[in-house]
Amino acid sequence: MHDATSEAAQVATDSPAAADGSGAMFDRIARRYDRLNRILSLGMDRRWRRRAAAALVASASSKATAAPTQPHRVLDVATGTGDLALETLSRFPEATLDGIDPAPQMLAIAREKAARRLVSPERLTLHEGHAEALPFADGTFDGATIAFGIRNVTDRSASLRELARVVRPGGRVVILELVEPRGYSPVTLGAKLWVHVVVPRLGAWLSSSREYRYLQRSIEAFPPPRDFAEMMQREAGLTEVHVRKLAFGSVALFSATVPEA
Ligand SMILES: C[S@@+](CC[C@H](N)C(=O)[O-])C[C@H]1O[C@@H](n2cnc3c(N)ncnc32)[C@H](O)[C@@H]1O
Repeated sequence: MHDATSEAAQVATDSPAAADGSGAMFDRIARRYDRLNRILSLGMDRRWRRRAAAALVASASSKATAAPTQPHRVLDVATGTGDLALETLSRFPEATLDGIDPAPQMLAIAREKAARRLVSPERLTLHEGHAEALPFADGTFDGATIAFGIRNVTDRSASLRELARVVRPGGRVVILELVEPRGYSPVTLGAKLWVHVVVPRLGAWLSSSREYRYLQRSIEAFPPPRDFAEMMQREAGLTEVHVRKLAFGSVALFSATVPEA
């Protein structure tokens, strides 16, 4: 990895505030991560990732003209155990994908899963690295995704800029993230109870660790979806930013286009 990436790694390890959510934290729970995901999302996380992969293609109502119907080269940032990467590869059979994440234990599981699913090594390349300093040239990809990762990065603005930089003009940036459910309808209150009461306790009990209390705190600290959508435009110059709320407002799917130069 080049110097900028090592610098970002240094920031992530040195800052006490960054320890939670860092690659090192995820390495500690890597072997339990997928099972916990299924349980804590009540099995819905797969469906959310399918929606995210689908959003790599601009919808018919979008004004984007240059977005291909099938992306050929895709980047998955904070790829972790590879679920979104593998979903994207199965949805777009012609595509190759680069996945990047600072946690080697999470990447090891992604590799094992790819091998079990007989994904050819030419289609999936995994890298150790941080969202804040992506080791790719400008405009390398047709689309980039990040699922449940933008909440964890140490510098959100720099990460958004990097996502926009490595995608070619007309290409897509897709972000899936857990957000604070807002409102007072019975389903929203149920979603709040799940996020604030059940997830931290069930997560801590199942994983014997504090990671799932961090999950609740970091969801609270994440901006409301509309503010984050504005940040995507303001910080990274992305256009056609759309937000879709899933799971009773506890998950947001952001999709946007990199403007033509
Ligand atoms: C909640 S997991 C999400 C993994 C995967 N995308 C998924 O959908 O299951 C968050 C991931 O973000 C990674 N991460 C933490 N800090 C990061 C950073 N600065 N840049 C990129 N990834 C980071 C962690 O190592 C972890 O694998």
